[in-house]
This record gives sequence, C-alpha cells and structure tokens, in this order.
Amino acid sequence: MSEKIKILFIGDIIGEPGYNLTKLLLPGLISKYKTDFVIANGENITEGKGILEKDGKKLLELNINVLTGGNHTMDKIQAHKYLMEEKRVLRPMNYPKGAYGHGFGIYAIPGTDFKIGIINLQGRVFMKSIDCPFRTFDWVYEKIKYETNIVFVDFHAEATAEKIAFGWYANGRASVVVGTHTHIPTADSRILSDGTAYITDVGMTGAYDSVIGMKKDGSIKRFIYSTPQKYEVADEDMRFSGVLCEIDSTTGRALSIKKIFSPEF
Ligand SMILES: [Fe+2]
Repeated sequence: MSEKIKILFIGDIIGEPGYNLTKLLLPGLISKYKTDFVIANGENITEGKGILEKDGKKLLELNINVLTGGNHTMDKIQAHKYLMEEKRVLRPMNYPKGAYGHGFGIYAIPGTDFKIGIINLQGRVFMKSIDCPFRTFDWVYEKIKYETNIVFVDFHAEATAEKIAFGWYANGRASVVVGTHTHIPTADSRILSDGTAYITDVGMTGAYDSVIGMKKDGSIKRFIYSTPQKYEVADEDMRFSGVLCEIDSTTGRALSIKKIFSPEF
C-alpha cells in the first residue's frame, strides 16, 4: 500500500551556532511534522569548513539520519578515516574515482518497509573541475533504482543555472533535488513536471547577520583587498532553513515541498 514518506532536509548547518539552533528546534519539527527521515548538509559544521568526527557524531545524535556534504567536506584531513567508516556521512559522489569517503547510500527508513537512496553531487561552474555530476547521477541512479524509487539528491553548487539544469535532468528519476552551497534560500520550491520536488538553494541554518555565515568584517575585506582574511563563524540573527518533502512511496514521486524558515525575515 502506498504511504506518504515525509523527509525533512536541513540546509547547510554553520558551525557551533548552527548546531545549537538545530538542537533547539529539530525535536519540535520532527514531532510537529511526523517526519520519517531527516537529512542535513553538514559540510560547514566544524568552524564553518569541514566535518570532524566529533561534530558529525553530535549532529547524528540529534536524530538526523544522514549528513550530506560538499566542497568543504574533506577540508579537515583528520576526518579521512571517519569519512571512510561512517556511511551516514556523504561527500559529493563525482570526486575522482578512488577519493576517500562515500558519495551515495541506500538507507532503511525507520518504522517503514521502505528505503531511501541519497546521492550527493557537486557542481562544476565556479568550482573545482571534478567529474560530471550529470553523468555520475545516471550511473548511481541505475544502481539505486533496483532497491528503491525514493531518491534524494543534494546538488551542492554555486551556479543557479547548473542547479536548475540538473533539476530538469533528474526530473522523473529523483524524488527530490535540493540545491545547497550558496547559503541563501531561494523562493522557487516546486514540483517539476514529472514529479521531482526541487529548490535551487535551501539556504543555511546559521547566522544571517553575516556574509553566508561568516563574520562580516573579514568577508568584506577579502573582497576589497583580494587577500585571504580570517574566517570566523558568525552567531547573530540565527535562523533555521530547511524543506519538508512528502513522497509517494509507491511511485517515488513528490507530492509536496514546503519551506521551513524560522524565524521569518
Ligand atoms: Fe559548499
């Protein structure tokens, strides 16, 4: 019998302030929306860049089922072993073959008979020139589809056009495509024509009195002087940003996508 599977995705959680806000709000959101599965982007959890084992564990202890990542996931070299061993923490799949860590996984959805396939990909426009995220999706999807038709993609990318192009490319195959990385929420959450829930960027769970989560002063100087500056995680004007998606368990098609942004601007 068909069931509605409710998936909560939390946008990039930035450092300790982002962790604290997630810890505060997540239990209430899980019970209010009766979520079946929680995914969060955790690539910025350790001081704004990367994910150390201690921080990954802290997030997973909040009843987050899987953490996705991006260009910063592998910034902390101490995390190599953790990324190899912990299959609930993903990095983008389209890094060159042999790179450590896991780029996708198939997970049981607790309390149901269903599974979810989660794929983490990274864009290439204004980012590292890694393997093609589109072609990577093709072959990973072929592996996942024999086990489940509930397929979730975190597409971590800078360029809006690359993200929406990917959304259309995966339309009808992925149940959900969420964009991450720019840390600014977009207003285009919708269901595409063949049943894929899509948003260009979920936005961050972090400080909005900041430049994408970092203290303003250093960020402004970086642009003025074109030199490296000290990056410090900001902690003023904290807001939670996520999306709640409902998926038909039989067809894998999305039924709804709703933004959860708290407090509103
Ligand atoms: Fe990123």
